[in-house]
Amino acid sequence: MKNLNRLLDLAKIVLNEIFDYLVSYFGVKKFKVDTVKDLVLVKDNKNNPQAILDTIDHFGWNRAFLMNIGDEKGLLLENAIKEKKPNNCLELGVYLGYSSIRILRNLNENSMLTSIEASNKYYEISQEIVSHSGLSDQWKPLKGKAKTVIPLLKEKYDFVFLDHWKDEYLSDLRALQCLELLNDEAVIFADNVVLFNMEDYLSYVRDSSVFKSKFVPTKREYSKTQPDGIEISIFNKDD
Ligand SMILES: C[S@@+](CC[C@H](N)C(=O)[O-])C[C@H]1O[C@@H](n2cnc3c(N)ncnc32)[C@H](O)[C@@H]1O
Repeated sequence: MKNLNRLLDLAKIVLNEIFDYLVSYFGVKKFKVDTVKDLVLVKDNKNNPQAILDTIDHFGWNRAFLMNIGDEKGLLLENAIKEKKPNNCLELGVYLGYSSIRILRNLNENSMLTSIEASNKYYEISQEIVSHSGLSDQWKPLKGKAKTVIPLLKEKYDFVFLDHWKDEYLSDLRALQCLELLNDEAVIFADNVVLFNMEDYLSYVRDSSVFKSKFVPTKREYSKTQPDGIEISIFNKDD
C-alpha cells in the first residue's frame, strides 16, 4: 500500500510536469522555469544568494513543483559540504542552479564546483541565476550529458552531488570510479533515492567494499508528507 501511494504521488508529479511542459511548449502559457527566472533576476536579489534561494523556495512551496533539492535537503547538502570542506566538487544535474548556489556559498576560497547539465534551456537559465548570485567565480558549468562529459574531465573530485536522471546515477558513478576521478574519501551525495525507489544504486553503494554508505530519511522537496531520502557514501579506494 505504501509503495502504491508512493508510485501514485510520483506519477502525479511526472504527469503534471509533462502537462505543464506541453502547455508551455504550445504557447498557452510561459514555461514555469522562465517565470522563476524572471522572479529571481530582480535588482534586490543581485549578489544575494539567500534571497535567490528564498525566491525559488517560495515558488516551489506555493505555486508549482520545482525539481531542485529544496530547503530541507538543501541544508543537508550544505552541512555535508561544510563538513567535508572539499577542494573540488562535481554536480550532475543543475536545473536552475539552486543547488549550485547552496554548494558554492560554502566552498573555501580556492575550491571549485564543476556542474554538468544536459538541457540547453536549463544550462542557460542556471548561468544567469548563478551569475546573479555573485558566486560564479568558483563555478565551472559544462553543457552535455554526464556520460559524455565525464570522460573529458581531467581532475579528481572529493565531493560528488548526484541529482540528474535517476537511471543514470549508477552508471555515472561507475564511470567516475573506472576513470579514477574520485579522490580517496570522496563523498557521494545522492538525492531522491526513496522517491524514485533506487534499489540498484543503493545495493551497489551499500554492498560494495569500497563505499561506506549511510541513509538519511527526508521528505521530498516542497512536500511535508511525501517520503524521500539521501544516500551519503564515502569512497575508500584501498578497501
Ligand atoms: C533534479 S534536476 C537538478 C536539480 C538541481 N540539482 C538542484 O537541486 O537545484 C535534474 C537535472 O538534471 C538534468 N539532467 C538529466 N539527465 C542528465 C544527464 N544525463 N546529464 C546531465 N544532466 C542531466 C536535467 O536536465 C535537470 O536539469
